[in-house]
Amino acid sequence: MDWWRTAVVYQVYPRSFADSDGNGIGDLEGVRAHVDHLVALGVDAVWLSPFYPSALADGGYDIDDYRDVAPELGTLADFDAMTEALHAHGIKVVVDIVPNHTSDRHRWFPAALAAGRGSDERDRYVFREGKGPDGAEPPTDWESDFGGSAWTRVEDGQWYLHLFAPEQPDLNWDRRDVREEFLTTLRFWADRGVDGFRVDVANLLVKDLTEPLPDRAALRTLTDGNHPYEDRDAVQEVYAEWRALFDTYDPPRMAVAEAWVPAHRRARYASPQGLGQAFNFDLLTAPWAPGAWRDVITENLDLAAESGSTSTWVLSNHDVIRHPTRYGITAAAGQPNEIGYIPAFGVDPSITVDEDLGARRARAATLLMLALPGSAYVYQGEELGLFEVADIPAEQRQDPTFFRTGGQRLGRDGCRVPLPWTSEPPSFGFSPADASAPPHLPQPAWFGGFSVEREAGDDASSLSLYRAALRLRRALTRGEGLTWEASAPEVLHVVRQGGWHVLTNFGAEPAAVPAGEVVLTSAPLVDGQVPADTTVWVRA
Ligand code: NOJ
Repeated sequence: MDWWRTAVVYQVYPRSFADSDGNGIGDLEGVRAHVDHLVALGVDAVWLSPFYPSALADGGYDIDDYRDVAPELGTLADFDAMTEALHAHGIKVVVDIVPNHTSDRHRWFPAALAAGRGSDERDRYVFREGKGPDGAEPPTDWESDFGGSAWTRVEDGQWYLHLFAPEQPDLNWDRRDVREEFLTTLRFWADRGVDGFRVDVANLLVKDLTEPLPDRAALRTLTDGNHPYEDRDAVQEVYAEWRALFDTYDPPRMAVAEAWVPAHRRARYASPQGLGQAFNFDLLTAPWAPGAWRDVITENLDLAAESGSTSTWVLSNHDVIRHPTRYGITAAAGQPNEIGYIPAFGVDPSITVDEDLGARRARAATLLMLALPGSAYVYQGEELGLFEVADIPAEQRQDPTFFRTGGQRLGRDGCRVPLPWTSEPPSFGFSPADASAPPHLPQPAWFGGFSVEREAGDDASSLSLYRAALRLRRALTRGEGLTWEASAPEVLHVVRQGGWHVLTNFGAEPAAVPAGEVVLTSAPLVDGQVPADTTVWVRA
């Protein structure tokens, strides 16, 4: 069977994982040096967020050179050494590919500016004339994902499109040379032994910008496949070509689409003729409620079957509020938005966090997620039960979202704070003791209590729970099936083939433990029953 179908994939955000050379920035040697942590945790693969040369206008998702390593993170030789160390333990390596946009420092963008209007070089991006007198207004009122206009004007008066930061100009995927360039990049990493690719905003590449262009209000009303840049059917032609390339390797390289599309469009990205797997982010936006979880699980297992893939499950990543915080946020804040983010979090003082409740629900959610058929994606630090860091001073923030919204949205820095490895300040083992610079985002004092070192020696810690869960998951999984057992309305009771019972109690009333041997619980049983906000695993 394809390894990725049931894999637990651990996401590394390289700048914040471990700093081996003391410059305050995590690096590839830091990953290599901590392979033991990944082995002890029991993951099947590592996905690395971008480690390529970048000015960090968007945390590395603004790439200057797709076939190199950022000098502050190491060298290609370090990448090879890291890959070899992971492979030596049977851990696969997945790299992030960002095809929708380059950085404005990529060799193509200055060439596009220099070559001027109507040139081939400019046509690799999306340049347009502006509107109004002298073309001084942007071609449309479209907004960038990080706030502000999606267009920026260049010196000679033309405007270019950037769906994200101005330093991330969108590419023109109608062009053959753009397509060839990415095939070369994919081959470059696949030849180096990379096992798979995570494809950034896989739904945005292909655009139809035939004029007149709809305005922002009209964009919202457009139906499937008719949007000028979101989820156009023709984007699958790009991935069919990528699939043909991946399948020339033995074993074929895997790919997972990051595509924030409605659930019923997801199967297109997950098809075996395309990328093969797609992120299902539905648990990020689902409330902590049995009906919502049951619907998400049922729908996604059906969709996975429809696509010929397996489902993926995600509770945290580098773009959203860490799930122990998310589950502790007061109801008054409402639901997370469409990307699992609560925009006013940390800004609106009426939004408070009950950390005990959040941590308890996060543990229960994690054990339910890890018991589901398919593949689970775990984000660095979630194994430690880390909370979001809300109190990063404005002058130390990095996320363009913070700056482009005038601080109205804190952005994503709070889930990207460097990991605590030991309980020793100043950097909690993130950097060597004689480091020349502090961690690139400030760590709060409470991080010491969540360190790998401390939690490894504590049976009740989050780390111990994750380690036990991943070990048992391997031992208990038999086949892809899942059935629902009748249960009280506030309880979900799932049975996996081979007699693995998983019961989550979302309600206040205690629930009975299924018959069999209790092998893991997210919180201690009370009087032999499953208390509120608790998941139990039972071998029948
Ligand atoms: C999705 C990535 O996960 C996010 O971090 C990034 O800002 C955008 N794509 C733009 O590349």
